[in-house]
Amino acid sequence: MGTSSNHPPVGIIGGTGLTTLSGLELTGERPVNTPWGEPSSSLVEGLLGDQPVVFLSRHGNPHRIPPHQVNYRANLHALYEMGVRTVVGVNAVGGIHADMGPAHIVIPDQIIDYTWGRASTFFEGDLEETTHIDFTFPYSSEARALLIDAARAEGLPFSDFGVYGATQGPRLETAAEVLRLERDGCDLVGMTGMPEAALAAELKMNYVCLALVVNRAAGKSDHIITMEEIEAAIGQGMSGVRRILEISMGG
Ligand code: HPA
Repeated sequence: MGTSSNHPPVGIIGGTGLTTLSGLELTGERPVNTPWGEPSSSLVEGLLGDQPVVFLSRHGNPHRIPPHQVNYRANLHALYEMGVRTVVGVNAVGGIHADMGPAHIVIPDQIIDYTWGRASTFFEGDLEETTHIDFTFPYSSEARALLIDAARAEGLPFSDFGVYGATQGPRLETAAEVLRLERDGCDLVGMTGMPEAALAAELKMNYVCLALVVNRAAGKSDHIITMEEIEAAIGQGMSGVRRILEISMGG
């Protein structure tokens, strides 16, 4: 995403299974406040290879904030204030598509938003005009290409397409809900893809999602979903996610 420390920092928002970023050469850490409140964690500054990055843990460190209570606006605003203009959102997801089983990595190309009741825009309050951002392509094609090249170079099991269905959580879905998501065209289901992507777009930041499948979505396997299964897939797949981040930053 850049190969020089003169480049603006890339933001990485770590999700479940990625509350810290090992391999990051730390250069600073700061608590930040924003007009939208406090972000989920302090912002950790460092270098991945030569690329400056700012790391934020979406659910806090330690992991404690559920998906519907993440202050997405504060998170994105804090990164923006640090000079970040490209954000990689790392998400643990359930796989709906047959190819997307546990530990599979996906760089999705579309989103459908099923979340509700979340603070999902910066455009509210006393506005001079109503603003409708274009959101046809929610993910940056340049940033996607870099992640895809990195996944390919590492020989990791991954898919370079996918529709991310963002659900409200925190509960997992029913089997019928997953069938509906599938009929809608979703390949993945997760709880944190939105409003993060739209808020990044409102700030005119490039945004890309790097998703790790941690379970087959409800009804897509012969068993119910357990935390043990999710943790095992995180253990198996998160090293690949870290490698993709390192390689795509030029490390
Ligand atoms: N559904 C929604 N969110 C998720 C899942 C799931 O199956 N797995 C991980 N995050």
